[in-house]
Amino acid sequence: MSQFEPNQEEVTSRRLFLGGVFAFLASVALIALGSFRFLVPNVIYGKNQRFKIGVPKDFPDKQATYLPEQQIFIVRDGETFMALSSVCTHLGCAVRTDPDKQGFFFCPCHGSKFKPDGTNYAGPAPKPLSAYEISMNNQGELVVDKRVQISPKEKYHI
Ligand code: FES
Repeated sequence: MSQFEPNQEEVTSRRLFLGGVFAFLASVALIALGSFRFLVPNVIYGKNQRFKIGVPKDFPDKQATYLPEQQIFIVRDGETFMALSSVCTHLGCAVRTDPDKQGFFFCPCHGSKFKPDGTNYAGPAPKPLSAYEISMNNQGELVVDKRVQISPKEKYHI
């Protein structure tokens, strides 16, 4: 055996050292990857919460018009408009217009009932349907903003 050839002990020691270095670098890389994941927001981008719904004449008087994509009812009473959520305040089922009571709403899941202004009056729903702000843009179109909840008494007058 030459003087420059490593003996078995040195080879084992070097392998252990290199294995340790590799394990350490792999750990650092995994931690860095895990940390990077927290920099990316965990958000699901949904539908726009502010949207145009059409001009006033699109909505028949004394009726609630259901807009399924936006999950709202547009309730028109003459010159006043209301945007009511169609999501039941009990467990979130889709509320419907009551075929037996003009202008009223009911929930088919557990029987909650709501007045034309969204006030709950029967069943397990703990509170009224949410009402959203309505405004009009420069083109004369009604715009609903679901980010702004209002009192049902604050109807929009055209
Ligand atoms: S979800 Fe509407 S009454 Fe229960």
